[in-house]
Amino acid sequence: MSKTRIAFIGAGNMAASLIGGMRAQGVEATQIRACDPGAETRARISAEHGIETFADSAQAIDGADVVLIAVKPQVMKAVCESLRPHLQPGQLLVSVAAGINCASMTRWLGEHPIVRCMPNTPALVRQGVSGLYATAQVTAEQRQQAEELLSAVGVALWLDEEQQLDAVTAVSGSGPAYFFLLIEAMTAAGVKLGLPAETAARLTLQTALGAAHMAINSDVDAAELRRRVTSPNGTTEAAIKSFQADGFEALVEKALSAAAHRSAELAEQLGN
Ligand SMILES: NC(=O)c1ccc[n+]([C@@H]2O[C@H](COP(=O)([O-])OP(=O)(O)OC[C@H]3O[C@@H](n4cnc5c(N)ncnc54)[C@H](OP(=O)(O)O)[C@@H]3O)[C@@H](O)[C@H]2O)c1
Repeated sequence: MSKTRIAFIGAGNMAASLIGGMRAQGVEATQIRACDPGAETRARISAEHGIETFADSAQAIDGADVVLIAVKPQVMKAVCESLRPHLQPGQLLVSVAAGINCASMTRWLGEHPIVRCMPNTPALVRQGVSGLYATAQVTAEQRQQAEELLSAVGVALWLDEEQQLDAVTAVSGSGPAYFFLLIEAMTAAGVKLGLPAETAARLTLQTALGAAHMAINSDVDAAELRRRVTSPNGTTEAAIKSFQADGFEALVEKALSAAAHRSAELAEQLGN
């Protein structure tokens, strides 16, 4: 990112996380511009990160190598159409909008290299993970630029097919909520077993963090880690057997299929 100039269209939560991550990695404030209709939003992001902000998107994207669109999916069509006359040839468009595919963006923006990303909310604490898909027009250097941008808030993984973004949405896009649900359920169960609510919550949260750290730093997969902590006839085995007798894996598969299906359905609606 040494000299890349980036213009953000939309300066809300996701843009603020990305800008914060980039600044923390040493990207200069002068390399970043942001456009947002909200005067307060502009003042906040400018004060926090020292970047120049604009109400007019044409001014913001002038001379930018990368135009990163971080607006709500519902306004993507209007935003893309308003950018179209001002885009310069070869400018890379990066979109983080859920459910808006490259074909729709190309229809609204004209032919430009596009990288479509699906980040997730832990990006707000720089622990996100994103799936990235690039159209054929994206150069190797632009892939690198997009990857560095998204890596500023976590891990960035390339996909070969755009359709795989529906699966990414199901696994990691919506994924934080599944873990929150498990945290809620384990905390409630701990309370039923006699623990004070705060103790049950802290035990659950630290266990989630510890398990994630172990799994990330281990050279064996999660199944093997689970086997290693499950002694025959022990307490863990009693719980795992109970989960599996109630069809835990099938339940998870069904839930993720529902999310992927809904992602494809929303793309269909929003892309028109
Ligand atoms: N937050 C996440 O963790 C997350 C995760 C995955 C994907 N995403 C994607 O990231 C995108 C942004 O989400 P967000 O949470 O950052 O939303 P957000 O906080 O609402 O930010 C969007 C910003 O864009 C502004 N905006 C609206 N119209 C605009 C225009 N014509 N030109 C420039 N800016 C405009 C909005 O201003 P007003 O409020 O005044 O309209 C708002 O400040 C969404 O498409 C979402 O799907 C977010």
